[in-house]
Amino acid sequence: MRTELSFAPLNEIETEWLAVLAADTQTAKGPDAKPEPLLLTADEAVKAAASVLSSGEFKAGANETLLLHAPAGLKAKRLLLIGLGKQATATLTSVRNAAGTAVRFTKPRGIRELAFALPDSEIPLPAGARATAEGAVVGDFDSDTYRSDRKDLSVNSFTAIAPASAEKSAVEAAFAEGAIIGESQNFARVLVNEPGNVLTPTEFGRRAAIMAEEVGLGWDISSTERLRTLKMGAFLSVTQGSEEPPALIVLKYEPEGVTDGPVLGLVGKGVTFDTGGISIKPADNMEKMKYDMAGGAAMLGAIRAIALLKPKVRVICIVCATENMPDGKAQKPGDVQTAMSGKTIEIINTDAEGRLVLADGITYAKQLGATHLIDAATLTGAVAVALGQINAGVFSNDDETFGKFNNGLAASGEKFWRLPLGDEYAEQIKSDIGDIKNTGGRYGGAITAAEFLKVFAEDTPWLHLDIAGLAWNDENKPFIAKGPTGVAVRSIVEWVRSY
Ligand code: BES
Ligand code: MN
Ligand code: ZN
Repeated sequence: MRTELSFAPLNEIETEWLAVLAADTQTAKGPDAKPEPLLLTADEAVKAAASVLSSGEFKAGANETLLLHAPAGLKAKRLLLIGLGKQATATLTSVRNAAGTAVRFTKPRGIRELAFALPDSEIPLPAGARATAEGAVVGDFDSDTYRSDRKDLSVNSFTAIAPASAEKSAVEAAFAEGAIIGESQNFARVLVNEPGNVLTPTEFGRRAAIMAEEVGLGWDISSTERLRTLKMGAFLSVTQGSEEPPALIVLKYEPEGVTDGPVLGLVGKGVTFDTGGISIKPADNMEKMKYDMAGGAAMLGAIRAIALLKPKVRVICIVCATENMPDGKAQKPGDVQTAMSGKTIEIINTDAEGRLVLADGITYAKQLGATHLIDAATLTGAVAVALGQINAGVFSNDDETFGKFNNGLAASGEKFWRLPLGDEYAEQIKSDIGDIKNTGGRYGGAITAAEFLKVFAEDTPWLHLDIAGLAWNDENKPFIAKGPTGVAVRSIVEWVRSY
């Protein structure tokens, strides 16, 4: 999908579809009162064409749509009204979702071009332009790559129309940014959508290298021998049960002229299929475990965006990619492994493999010079029990670093909720046999997993994102398809840009 920005008056736009936003003003009261949706454009011709708004058939609820054919006084062939929800609570998220809704409404109807009027009130531009580009690009994605009946459905061009009063260069820059971020989120979603037989660790590495070449990142992909040289005993222990060689993916963003200041380390869990290993998972829903590399994909998506947005801070990205398989050579409960850091780990459950690969990824990021760390992983079912599929979990050993991440959420529009850490929880992963064990019992499972990672982050400021509950959408929404979500890409990008 091409994304473009135009400053032409709305009544002059020649297009198949023109989408315009409306907010619910909530002024109507009483049983017979008609709703009075407020059109977020000052264009008189559009207002006249949309006079039906007073009829009550459209209430401007969030992502509500009403399609008008042959609107009088406009050059557009159709006018699509999209609800933003209540005027008082309209945010950038409402606009991002409305743009996604516009694209997803248009897409299956065989129409190839869409113009979208940026709101000229209620929502600040240029932030609204950025959210619009993000929402449109994200809305265009469907996980139908392998469906031969769905090939021809796509919107070829999406044109946002900015009000004449807008500050041109700022809106242009923000819109371009939004497209980059949305495309990077979709880059992650494409990877997450791939089945385990296609996206092996080797293929994951190959795609990372192709992307790195495209956007000008340094890259180094290695496998078992390098893991042995680096003494990555925790990562290796997960790989040993698989016929597929692992991939240690390292990407580097080194902006010109930046030789000091922080080095941000992005570490992603890249388990391309998680059977559980010898502690094997039940058959029900096991097919979903192809998305156990969503944290790694999010990191690749984030660094792709960073390479294109060019913030003045150094970033390294490490993805630990492997399968977790049961096999004659697979690790067993009771085995003791020595991590790259030298810490010994008693394996209680081979299905708690994500923290093992991340342990060595975190240690390696520090060895490569990372001064601040962020990891992302579909780490625990427990985080979804705690927070549902609404908020992802975030943990940190440093309030300032968490603050920077948290401040970025308004712009990213993603929901993360901080969960606690603490020595009382760390007690649960103490081992009699080694330094720590890889599970901490029934209670507080997301927290004890985070405590495990904290042992390897040590004193380095660190954030841990547990995205297990949000990496996959089970249902279609008006603005985003079911399937891989690409969650965390936008928030990681925002965090990086805060340095
Ligand atoms: N990949 C899973 C976590 C997961 C579960 C992701 C559901 C997405 C959806 C992880 O490797 C895992 O198996 N975790 C175990 C940990 C337990 C053995 C301590 C879990 O959550 O049950
Ligand atoms: Mn597992
Ligand atoms: Zn897993």
